Amino acid sequence: MIPLKENALGVLKAIMSPILAKSILSLSESWAGVDMDRLRPGDIRRLMEELEKGINLYVPDPETQRLCLDRLREIMTESVQARPEEMNSTMVAVREESDIVTARAAAREVCVRLDFSLSMQVKVATAISELARNIVQYAGRGEIIISSGGVPPAIEIIASDQGPGIADVDAVMSDRYKSKRGMGIGLKGTRNLMDEFSIESRPGEGCVVRAKKYY
Ligand SMILES: Nc1ncnc2c1ncn2[C@@H]1O[C@H](COP(=O)(O)OP(=O)(O)O)[C@@H](O)[C@H]1O
Ligand SMILES: [Mg+2]
Repeated sequence: MIPLKENALGVLKAIMSPILAKSILSLSESWAGVDMDRLRPGDIRRLMEELEKGINLYVPDPETQRLCLDRLREIMTESVQARPEEMNSTMVAVREESDIVTARAAAREVCVRLDFSLSMQVKVATAISELARNIVQYAGRGEIIISSGGVPPAIEIIASDQGPGIADVDAVMSDRYKSKRGMGIGLKGTRNLMDEFSIESRPGEGCVVRAKKYY
């Protein structure tokens, strides 16, 4: 496979001089803070924004601009998919109120690294706060594992504890259940904030809640 940077250079050279192509490419890389040899899924949007600025400045025809940008996005996506990003995990022990803040901050950091939009960051941070709060309130202690990466990039939260478990999962997930504590979002609201959600509860043994959100 042709290295991504060389490939992108070829696309640009088809519509502009080699010198211009080279400088637009390397300036876009440095403005976006991205290394094309190590392109990660979360980098594509930023890099494309910079490339678009450069191309629009030097290529007058809108149709040519669009075709070139489409092709660049395509080869970047292909390159990222051919080289799936490794998974990263962090664990936060949850025992007291202050751990809720720690878990929230850790999730936020991962979202920023994945280049999640601000509204997605808020959703994930809210979800993790609810799960951490439930651990503190109902189980006393537990842990949350935050994993990220994969193709398409995603963040996964696994909150587990060895507390009393949830006696009736269907009841607390039903439309009739009203969350009373915390921010009033509860498990049901958490499910709505995320793309995938599951609860495994063993009464008397504890529960594991998994929630996943895609880029
Ligand atoms: N980790 C947990 N361990 C035991 N019970 C839990 C846990 N999380 C939630 N629950 C039970 O499920 C109910 C619903 O939780 P939730 O939807 O977060 O709403 P709220 O916490 O406001 O009651 C809680 O009231 C509690 O009885
Ligand atoms: Mg709750």
